[in-house]
Amino acid sequence: MKKILVTGGTGYIGSHTVVELQNSGYEVVIVDNLSNSRADVVDNIAEVSGVKPAFEEVDCVDKEAMRKVFEKHGNIEAIIHFAASKAVGESVQKPLLYYRNNIVSLINLLELMPEFGVKGIVFSSSCTVYGEPDELPVTENAPIKPATSPYGNTKQINEEIIRDAVKANPVFSAILLRYFNPIGAHPSALLGELPNGVPQNLVPYITQTAIGLREQLSVFGNDYNTPDGSCIRDYINVVDLAKAHVIAIDRILEKKQDEQVEVFNIGTGRGLSVLELVTMFEKATGVKLNYKIVGRREGDIEKVWANPERANKVLGWKADTPVEDTLLSAWKWQLKLRERGIQ
Ligand code: UD1
Repeated sequence: MKKILVTGGTGYIGSHTVVELQNSGYEVVIVDNLSNSRADVVDNIAEVSGVKPAFEEVDCVDKEAMRKVFEKHGNIEAIIHFAASKAVGESVQKPLLYYRNNIVSLINLLELMPEFGVKGIVFSSSCTVYGEPDELPVTENAPIKPATSPYGNTKQINEEIIRDAVKANPVFSAILLRYFNPIGAHPSALLGELPNGVPQNLVPYITQTAIGLREQLSVFGNDYNTPDGSCIRDYINVVDLAKAHVIAIDRILEKKQDEQVEVFNIGTGRGLSVLELVTMFEKATGVKLNYKIVGRREGDIEKVWANPERANKVLGWKADTPVEDTLLSAWKWQLKLRERGIQ
């Protein structure tokens, strides 16, 4: 069985990806410092997939501890690197923390990879690298815009670090996946997003409002240059997204890459406004949502959605879960959290 190291494997996207890797016959070693996730996610992964992954509570910033993980587990074929701090607002308050966490972690991995014969790395990047795109839908060739937050900057810098590292030492390869807006939960309702404190992202805020944990959703702005005035995003189902990682790992290990560093947009190709998403949530769940329109949120992009053709053609991957089903899965997850007494 081929062994894959998944950093941040108890997190939101990481946990779903671990399950898909296991379902495809990979053996997984999770590294996570649990800074934004719970240890019992490992049990839930086991419940979904039937296999308990190896788990090391280690911070990727600690290079010696990471070296020990590679020594202990041996024969790690490839890495999927999710572990990162991701709160945009917090990154503005604590930029050095974000640069240290997100950049040092990656450098440690890139230094350890050749030492342990690791063949490749899949990196969690973001459509945030495009900023406010000049053309929509946005392709991978769109220019990289100056980052609007230290968080966004770490994604851009890390993409460059990977390119430079591979160029200088082509013993391994990389795939950069630029995610649009991941939402939803595993259909089993055993895995999902667990925000720390007040959710900053739209869908967790919607589900927490629907269940009564929050009084009202604030829709940030209805005066944008969009059909209904609210911002437009490309909302991608988290299980669809997880599957893209498995294909990327297959591609690296089967040496199918056209270039040593490849980049793919991972989105649906469909843009939805905040108000459209709210209406769809209400329809899918039958729950009426209390919301009000407020002013714009600083730093928000007006509209962005993917041209996912490259991933469709080259990877043979396509997001195919209907948004309504995805929203329903997020709602079921929220209900399950209450049942478990978590939120
Ligand atoms: C942001 C980041 C992105 C990051 C992602 C996940 C930017 C530009 N984008 O995406 O890089 O990967 O978070 O952490 O920094 N909204 C409301 N009310 C709310 C919450 C959100 O109206 O309570 C609106 C926002 O204005 C936006 C949309 O919902 O139009 C989606 O917001 P959000 O889920 O926070 O994701 P992004 O800002 O797109």
